[in-house]
Amino acid sequence: MEVSLLNPDAGNQKGLKFSEALLEQNCSEEHRNLAEKINELKKRKNAIILGHFYQRPEVQEVSDFIGDSLALAQKAVNTSADIILMAGVHFMAETVKLLNPSKTVLIPCIDAGCSLADSCKAADLKKFIDENPGHTVISYVNTTNEIKALSDIICTSSNAVQIVKSLLADEKIIFGPDRNLGTFVSKQTGRQMLLWNGACHVHRRFSASRIAELKSKYPDALVLAHPECQADVLDISDFVGSTAAILKFVNSSDCKTFIVSTEPGILHQMQKANSDKQFIPAPPDDAQLSCNECEYMKMITLENIYQTLSAESPEVTVDEQIREAALRPVQRMLEISSKLGI
Ligand code: 13P
Ligand code: SF4
Repeated sequence: MEVSLLNPDAGNQKGLKFSEALLEQNCSEEHRNLAEKINELKKRKNAIILGHFYQRPEVQEVSDFIGDSLALAQKAVNTSADIILMAGVHFMAETVKLLNPSKTVLIPCIDAGCSLADSCKAADLKKFIDENPGHTVISYVNTTNEIKALSDIICTSSNAVQIVKSLLADEKIIFGPDRNLGTFVSKQTGRQMLLWNGACHVHRRFSASRIAELKSKYPDALVLAHPECQADVLDISDFVGSTAAILKFVNSSDCKTFIVSTEPGILHQMQKANSDKQFIPAPPDDAQLSCNECEYMKMITLENIYQTLSAESPEVTVDEQIREAALRPVQRMLEISSKLGI
């Protein structure tokens, strides 16, 4: 059965909800066979798969742990596996390697990048820091190791507000690279920050006017958004949070319908835990499209996971000098998060 991931009504043609259609689409015989082979390889090689919420449903199903970018980094510290395969994008695999230099860290597709990480080059950030001396540099985890090495502290969307609040009230802050997350954190904390002008090409595409149209069709629906969305989308949202926070909100809410303004891979876990609730992927500003995928996240497939685990390649490597400098701000983030119970 063919169901376009870009068409939330596709499932309705068969009387299925969008996420049920996703599940059906991804339970093919071929997927089941590959999943079996992957599970056998994991056992034989003492390997684990860490998967992000934006992964394809069938990839989430072969993952040993699924989480947001903070939880994936935390999990990477506490694993006894010899091989860690990151079912996510490159910066996530690099972060795992920073934390586990002696382990084999694999990424099934070397091109699985991130437009947000690409929006901030090390030479440009260095210039910005030099032009604005005396600032504490907070960088979002969606960055290269070179950017992390220039930073004082790393944050994710799960802990950005608390990380900023943990700094002294008069500390001057540079925050990057996501201007939307930076603006959101600034509003939440009341702190002025110098913002890097970067954005995620997926999240900046969500359209407040199209969400408002959907809201008039589903007046009881709650609108949920990731803080990488533009301010006008966040302003009309009922809840703003990281992927893990959005999922937690849905699981504990009595509401039955949700409009979800983040990458629709998250719908898989939402629907699995809440079969009585309806999840509608928020549309992007392009009227031709009904939902909004991260093509980098979707580069990871069962096929390339199987090949990567078999060949133990491509492997993620990190220059040792960069590693030392990049590790410090990541550890600082993990320490603050652990103290605050995040
Ligand atoms: P989370 O930190 O919520 O997992 O988000 C990561 C990301 O890439 C969002 O686009
Ligand atoms: Fe990067 Fe955006 Fe994809 Fe997240 S959704 S990995 S920020 S490009």
